[in-house]
Amino acid sequence: MARIGFIGTGEITAAMVRGLQGQGHKILVSARNANMAATLAAEVAEVSIAPNDQVVAGSDVVFLCLMAKVAETVLTGLPFRAGQTVISVMVDAPLAKLRAWCAPTTDISITIPLPPIAQGGCPLPVYPASPALEALFGARNLVIPLQSETAINAHLAASAICSPMLDQLLTAGQWLAGFTGDRDAAEAYVGTMIRCYLPERPASGELADALQKLSTEGGLNATLRAHMSSAKTMMTEGLDGFRTRVGLGQKDQA
Ligand SMILES: NC(=O)c1ccc[n+]([C@@H]2O[C@H](COP(=O)([O-])OP(=O)(O)OC[C@H]3O[C@@H](n4cnc5c(N)ncnc54)[C@H](OP(=O)(O)O)[C@@H]3O)[C@@H](O)[C@H]2O)c1
Repeated sequence: MARIGFIGTGEITAAMVRGLQGQGHKILVSARNANMAATLAAEVAEVSIAPNDQVVAGSDVVFLCLMAKVAETVLTGLPFRAGQTVISVMVDAPLAKLRAWCAPTTDISITIPLPPIAQGGCPLPVYPASPALEALFGARNLVIPLQSETAINAHLAASAICSPMLDQLLTAGQWLAGFTGDRDAAEAYVGTMIRCYLPERPASGELADALQKLSTEGGLNATLRAHMSSAKTMMTEGLDGFRTRVGLGQKDQA
C-alpha cells in the first residue's frame, strides 16, 4: 500500500487515479478542480480530497498534474520533505525548475501519462528512472526509463503525434462511412486495422518490416503513401517546431 498524492485534479489525474483503483493505495487529491475531485471521491473508494499542503504532507509519492504556468505559484511553499518522491507529468516544467519548486526533495522524475492509463497499456517514458512509478503503474503499463533530460523532452514532443494520427484515422473512417452509412463501424474498422499492426512493444525493425510488406508497387497502400509523402516532412517540421519549447535546442546545435 502506498500513500499517493495528486496536486491538480484535472483530466490526467482522473485517468491516473482510475488506473490505480482497487490496489489498496491511499490516494489524496487536491480540492481543485472541485467537480472532478468530488467525482473521483465518489467513484474510487481509496480517494480523499484535501488542501494542497495536506496532499503533500500526507503522501509518500506526489504527482504534479498542474498546468505549468501556475506551478511555481502553487508549489512553492508546500511542505515537500527530503527524500519524498515527486513525479511531474507537466509539459513546460524542466527538472531545474521542479527542483526549485519542490525543495528540499531531489527525488524528482518526469513522465508522460496519456488518458488511456485509466485502462492500462500506456507507455510511460520517465527520467530519471523512478522505482515508485514502476511499482505503481508498471504491472499494467510499459514504464520506459530514459537516460537523459533531452530524451524525456524529445518524448514529450513526440507525444504530440497522438492527435494528428487519430485525426487521420477519423478522416479515413468518415470517408469510409460515406459509402457504408455506418460511421461507428467504419471507425472501428480503421482503428482495429491499424492496431493489428501495433504490438505493445514492437521488436527492432518490426514496424519497418510491416511497412515494407505494404509497399507493393502500384498497390493501394503504396499509392496512397506516395500521394501523402509530404505528410512525412510536415511531421518532422512540426516536431522540430517544439525544439525551443521543450528545451531541445535548434537543429544545427543538436
Ligand atoms: N491531459 C493529457 O492528456 C496530458 C497528458 C500528459 C501530460 N499532461 C500534463 O498534465 C498537466 C495537467 O493537464 P490536464 O489535461 O489534466 O489539465 P486540467 O484538466 O486543466 O487539470 C489541471 C488542474 O489543475 C487545477 N489547478 C489550478 N490551480 C490549482 C491550484 N492552485 N491548486 C490545485 N489545483 C489547481 C485545475 O483546477 P481548475 O479547473 O479549478 O482551474 C485543473 O483541474 C499539464 O501540465 C499537461 O501538460 C496532460
